[in-house]
Amino acid sequence: MSVFPKDFLWGGATAANQCEGAYNVDGKGLSVQDVLPKGIFGPVTDGPTEDNLKLEGIDFYNRYEEDIKLMAEMGFKVFRMSIAWTRIYPTGEEDAPNEAGLAFYDRVFDTCHKYNIEPLVTLSHYESPLHLSKAYDGWRSRRLIDLFAKYAETVFRRYKDKVTYWVTFNEINVTSHVPLLGGGVLTPRDQLSKQDMYQAAHHQLVASGLVTKIARDINPNFKIGCMVASAPRYPMTCHPDDVTYAMEEQQELTLFVHVHAKGEYPYYTKRLFDRDNIKLEITEDDKQSLTHTVDFISFSYYNSKTVAKDPTKYELAQGNLYRGLKNPYLEYSEWNYPIDPQGLRYILNFYYERYELPMFVSENGMGALDHPIEENGTLTINDDYRIDFHKGHLREVGRAIEDGVDVFGYTSWGCIDLISAASAQMEKRYGFVYVDRDKDGNGTLERYRKKSFYWYKDVIGSNGESL
Ligand code: BG6
Repeated sequence: MSVFPKDFLWGGATAANQCEGAYNVDGKGLSVQDVLPKGIFGPVTDGPTEDNLKLEGIDFYNRYEEDIKLMAEMGFKVFRMSIAWTRIYPTGEEDAPNEAGLAFYDRVFDTCHKYNIEPLVTLSHYESPLHLSKAYDGWRSRRLIDLFAKYAETVFRRYKDKVTYWVTFNEINVTSHVPLLGGGVLTPRDQLSKQDMYQAAHHQLVASGLVTKIARDINPNFKIGCMVASAPRYPMTCHPDDVTYAMEEQQELTLFVHVHAKGEYPYYTKRLFDRDNIKLEITEDDKQSLTHTVDFISFSYYNSKTVAKDPTKYELAQGNLYRGLKNPYLEYSEWNYPIDPQGLRYILNFYYERYELPMFVSENGMGALDHPIEENGTLTINDDYRIDFHKGHLREVGRAIEDGVDVFGYTSWGCIDLISAASAQMEKRYGFVYVDRDKDGNGTLERYRKKSFYWYKDVIGSNGESL
């Protein structure tokens, strides 16, 4: 008997800016991603440049039918995707939405439903309107709260009968560390104080609560979730200095889940903020908005992060968005990320024991170089490494379910190859579906099923029993 509930939402995840392309088609405005050809650490270009692979992405804008059909063939029950804010409000400040943008997502959702796939929609996945970055320095300004609420209300009303599951901000905790990516903040990071970054993150938390209320007023059956980048912090040693250091870092991350789950900042915020001399401007209206808590907690999990009070003695490792120390007990990916399936069971329990809200794993995967070979006139990719990664992680999701955690879905990141977020590369692939596009942007864009495609299909078909 499978440990996965019979209505478990199996699927995959993408983001508009990493797959759609068509960056200037049908009235779409520019987003920050259209001027970041090398990824999240810049440089920021004056306008779109030819070396920016995201401008064409994987052409999902024109190929969504074929792509969703492939997801259906794998048996997907859910497809996590984002709406590009700039397709709906090209600068973010228009009074009326762009009908062509709205119509595009109607077509996408209709196609999902044709195949009995439930869309799970992220409102903001690292793609704020560039105009708002230039005019207001992105989420540093309170002005964005109302503009975002207007955008959210528009899509909630338009898709109220087509979408049930919504996520407000992708990896909302990233704004306090990588403000350009998370909050569209153009001021270079080294000119920002921690106060600036947390104020921007606070504006997003307020916006998240506010739109949760708007959503419920429009359709009480909506299910609204938060989304937090979740690398659990491990102490490098059992020295109490390292253990308490790891605890404090973990609290900086858990704070974002806590606000969404409990409707207010947690008890440890004061100490964290005092330490960094942060004094947030929090109005009475802000506090009210925060009280609109979520229905579920979703998070991305790529790796655990090992930390020490004095990191200088240890070797460094990479990780999704955050660098940690090399954990000697783990294997590493080609991008030097620790591979730690048990960390997924750990973080599921960690959140659930605190908040007891339904959990959704909204991103998990491993970026890898694929080596296609030609066989019988088609391309084949024998990606056993990807199968091993997902098998290991999904078994741990199963164990968390056996622990008693209410996990209701899992979407693998980049279920179809797309452009990476951090480095805007094509060759760092996550997909079960291979897209023929190389690191310079050349290729037919044809789609090919990888070995992992058939493996995932079996997993879904057996509701996890084949794991
Ligand atoms: C997550 C993001 O942090 O990591 C995704 O939500 C991103 O947008 C994913 O693509 C993987 O990171 P990368 O940099 O390898 O694409």
